[in-house]
Amino acid sequence: MASLTQEIQKRRTFAIISHPDAGKTTLTEKLLLFGGAIHVAGAVKSNKIKKTATSDWMEIEKQRGISVATSVMGFNYGDYKINILDTPGHQDFAEDTYRTLTAVDSVIIVVDVAKGVETQTRKLMEVCRMRNTPVIIFVNKLDREGRDPFDILDELEQELKISVRPLSWPINMGAHFKGVYNIYERDLNLFKPDKQHVTERVEIKDINDPAIDAAVGADDAQKLRDDIELIDGVYPEFSTLDYLDARVAPVFFGSALNTFGVKELLDCFVRIAPSPKPVQAVERIVEPGEEKFTGFVFKIHANMDPNHRSCIAFVKVCSGVFHRNENYKHVRSGKSYRFSAPTAFMAQRKEIIDDVFPGDIVGLPDNGIFKIGDTLTEGEELHFKGLPCFSPEMFKYIENTDPMKTKQLNKGVEQLMDEGVAQLFVNQFNNRKIIGTVGQLQFEVIQYRLLHEYGAQCRWEPIHLYKACWIESDNDDTLEAFKRRKHQFMALDREGRDVFLADSSYVLQMAQQDFPDITFHFTSEF
Ligand code: G4P
Repeated sequence: MASLTQEIQKRRTFAIISHPDAGKTTLTEKLLLFGGAIHVAGAVKSNKIKKTATSDWMEIEKQRGISVATSVMGFNYGDYKINILDTPGHQDFAEDTYRTLTAVDSVIIVVDVAKGVETQTRKLMEVCRMRNTPVIIFVNKLDREGRDPFDILDELEQELKISVRPLSWPINMGAHFKGVYNIYERDLNLFKPDKQHVTERVEIKDINDPAIDAAVGADDAQKLRDDIELIDGVYPEFSTLDYLDARVAPVFFGSALNTFGVKELLDCFVRIAPSPKPVQAVERIVEPGEEKFTGFVFKIHANMDPNHRSCIAFVKVCSGVFHRNENYKHVRSGKSYRFSAPTAFMAQRKEIIDDVFPGDIVGLPDNGIFKIGDTLTEGEELHFKGLPCFSPEMFKYIENTDPMKTKQLNKGVEQLMDEGVAQLFVNQFNNRKIIGTVGQLQFEVIQYRLLHEYGAQCRWEPIHLYKACWIESDNDDTLEAFKRRKHQFMALDREGRDVFLADSSYVLQMAQQDFPDITFHFTSEF
């Protein structure tokens, strides 16, 4: 049997992120195709929420239901075990994506060659940067006309604030797209539109090989040589260490739909991408190779069947081996739990598993035990850090409309917040509850679920807020003075931390100016 170290070294746990429509689902599917996890393209149900459904969130939940199976896709590729963690495409569920990023060791970013860097990509990259997550970029849809590849590289550097290094290079694009030259392997891959199969490569000795001229014509071969010379002149040689330190992002070009340029990406990915890394807990750094099991919950997925309220908690194994039917400590409650039916996620199947290794995700049936961020151990008091709460972008007062059901409402709100559906703040001035979300849809989800799962009814009342910021200062007197001055706008989050509810950017700026001793945080992890 392979040792724990070997199991760790062969694992690659990552997420694919992109702005909706750049090609994340298509690329995921093609990676599964290479891994032999599926045999025909089109087999993966899109986890993305269709544009047409934005006002019909039940439809969205149905689609999210499908996504339980595809939330984590594990498959073997050569000697590697790959885990792709899927992230919801819809921006109203961005918070889910942020949290998923805490459970990955690296990221592949997909960018549409015609559209370049879009808003969602920029935001997600900020999260990667905060966490120093290594990224590889895949520029997609080269079978269509798009921007000049050199312009795309400049844009990636500027917008994503990271140095880039192309490791493959396209020969034309759109109708004239002929293929990609693999700078990393120094070979040539000729383009043949094909949605199902892998295209053939042309063996070449080096960039001056006349085989290139024979394959793509003398003019394009010359242009390729000029481009490569320019690239080698402008961009420093690729360094895996710089990539692992998140200082440089290698860039690949291709067309996911045509299964083109994807194998180059995957082969390079498994070779350079990090295996499970040490994880920082509040108490200490946890090494994946430690003998004892530790892990944390980064996602809770509710079953939408109202008659059967159950959830799956997704636990990332950080160290040791998780065994079925063994007792583990749930650190927050201090209680011990045994799990008889943990599930592994292989391709699209869910199956009971006996042993789970670092880097893998295990699904645990949850009847209300877990909360996002919870730690499981063999007894040690450990708290994993790094599950950030971002300042929500939309706020509403939540009001109870059925006084007979106050208890149900409170319980429902608490549990939905544990699942990470939204954030709850209690205004200290009027004691009213404020729900903060990143999108309008979440309010609808909460209202519907409270009614159908808890029998509680609520109504939303508008509140005009710009941002919620967590405040902190070494100077207690200043902090107290600030809280007195802003007492109408002070709230507590669920952990009892002070939150300032700024109603405009101007007010926030003034507060920052008037109280230089106070730090205003836009995420709750600091
Ligand atoms: P997403 O998960 O990032 O939201 O994107 P998804 O893969 O669903 O791709 C969005 C659209 O872009 C899809 O078309 C998909 O077929 C197309 N696409 C993906 N890769 C390529 C590519 O390399 N070249 C071209 N030309 N198109 C590509 P759709 O019409 O929105 O959906 P569908 O009906 O094809 O599923």
